[in-house]
Amino acid sequence: MNIAFIGAGNVGAPLAAHLAEAGHNVVLAQAKDGSSSIAAALARSQRLSARPLADAVNAAEVVFLATPFAANEALLTSLGDALANKILVDCTNPVGPRLTHGLSSQRSGSEFIQSLVPKAHVVKAFTIYGFENFENPVYPAYTVKPAMLFCGEDRSAKESVSKLIADCGFEPVDVGGLVQALHLEHMTLLWVRMVRAGGHSPNIVWAALRR
Ligand SMILES: NC(=O)c1ccc[n+]([C@@H]2O[C@H](COP(=O)([O-])OP(=O)(O)OC[C@H]3O[C@@H](n4cnc5c(N)ncnc54)[C@H](OP(=O)(O)O)[C@@H]3O)[C@@H](O)[C@H]2O)c1
Repeated sequence: MNIAFIGAGNVGAPLAAHLAEAGHNVVLAQAKDGSSSIAAALARSQRLSARPLADAVNAAEVVFLATPFAANEALLTSLGDALANKILVDCTNPVGPRLTHGLSSQRSGSEFIQSLVPKAHVVKAFTIYGFENFENPVYPAYTVKPAMLFCGEDRSAKESVSKLIADCGFEPVDVGGLVQALHLEHMTLLWVRMVRAGGHSPNIVWAALRR
């Protein structure tokens, strides 16, 4: 698929590299000149390239959003209708003071983003773990892969994102509509509080076991 990444830091860079290695055409969207994160991402994979923001988004079928949550409103508003009918994978989390929900748990960040770009197909994914697991999703002692829970409204968009999740080394688990995003964001806070504040190793993931 033709994929653009807005944001190529801790989260964007490893996911972009995995997807490029899997054979997708992955372009890093440059919002400004001289981005050190884009330079570092380009240095880690020769399969990645960079283009100006609007060009990258216009050419993409799927756009990953991996930016600080506070940047999203101005950024998405500036894109106008460029995201219409495209899949927007929301990797961002609204995080407030002392690792609380950044929108006071009243509304999910993904629903806020959907309201900014109503014609895009927003799918929340790649948020429930820290970046260490995006760098390396392999847990060699297990036959099951780490579960990647995702949600969104559009069935076709979710089918596409499900394949991209698998390409990144996770087991995709569709948890429903965008109304579930708030619960995924709380799940993120659970992981973040356990690991960043509670002393757990970042090498911990959730698995979906079925019978
Ligand atoms: N870190 C984690 O473990 C983790 C895990 C899951 C989800 N998340 C979420 O993922 C998002 C990104 O986190 P991160 O750790 O990857 O952050 P990061 O390492 O700071 O990277 C942020 C990226 O966004 C770019 N950026 C910043 N402002 C921008 C703007 N106005 N327009 C376009 N690009 C902009 C930065 O570019 P420059 O370098 O040029 O400034 C950089 O490439 C956050 O919402 C975070 O909550 C983080």
